[in-house]
Amino acid sequence: MNEVIQTLLSHRSFRSFENKPVDEEQLDQIIQAVQAAPNWINGQQLSIIAIKDTERKKRFAELCGGQKHVEEAAVFLIFCADFYRTHLASEMEGMPMEAIEDIDTLIVGVTDVGIALGTAVAAAESFGLGTVPIGGIRRHSLEVVKELALPPYVIPITGLCIGHPGKDTGQKPRLPKEAVYHENTYQQEQKPLLEKYNDDYANYLAERSGAQRAGTWTKTVASFYRQPYYEGIADMLKQQKFPGGKE
Ligand SMILES: Cc1cc2nc3c(=O)[nH]c(=O)nc-3n(C[C@H](O)[C@H](O)[C@H](O)COP(=O)(O)O)c2cc1C
Repeated sequence: MNEVIQTLLSHRSFRSFENKPVDEEQLDQIIQAVQAAPNWINGQQLSIIAIKDTERKKRFAELCGGQKHVEEAAVFLIFCADFYRTHLASEMEGMPMEAIEDIDTLIVGVTDVGIALGTAVAAAESFGLGTVPIGGIRRHSLEVVKELALPPYVIPITGLCIGHPGKDTGQKPRLPKEAVYHENTYQQEQKPLLEKYNDDYANYLAERSGAQRAGTWTKTVASFYRQPYYEGIADMLKQQKFPGGKE
């Protein structure tokens, strides 16, 4: 097994960090790695905003729903889908930007952010740093847009805490490969796989929490998807001139 695969297979999120800055050279290389990643038409539909100041990290920890690891991390990166530069290019070339009204544009931006996030996590972990992505950045998305002074055509998608790892709570078990990897056609018969995974997941939770936490994976996931998770996303999309906004 090569070192890259070893790093990828050792992934786990960290939610506690040492009070120690991240080397600027390493942060620079993480951003360079992100910029080198594939992206749609080389349009580079991405911007990252770094928050390092303690008071400002505290503010974002609150905005993300009281997630203290945002404050504890040395750096909090906010990944945005960004079509502002596309807008400038369209203005410079005297062309309309009609595609911004198409929902596929949202898929393009979010895909670019996903690739960038994964790349940043892998790059940070290659330096022995710990990370945790923060979807909580969409909890108060209109306030986040204001705090970051995001122009139209730019939306916050996810945050990422980076720092020197604190407590290691271990790796979370994943679904069996047969559930997520298919050859030729999609296999719908997955309930037995999910039942087996529920047992693995329940054992993992019991071990990790010393039997304090119980539950199954299907229950956890079903509870999250019972109703929309973050409110106000449609309003934020509308304000930032994206499709999917409320009319
Ligand atoms: C887009 C995205 C958003 C996430 N948002 C949060 C978050 O707001 N808070 C948090 O504690 N973890 C968050 N996570 C971390 C996931 O909970 C974690 O990756 C998942 O449970 C798997 O655990 P692992 O990374 O330790 O393997 C997020 C992960 C992703 C990919």
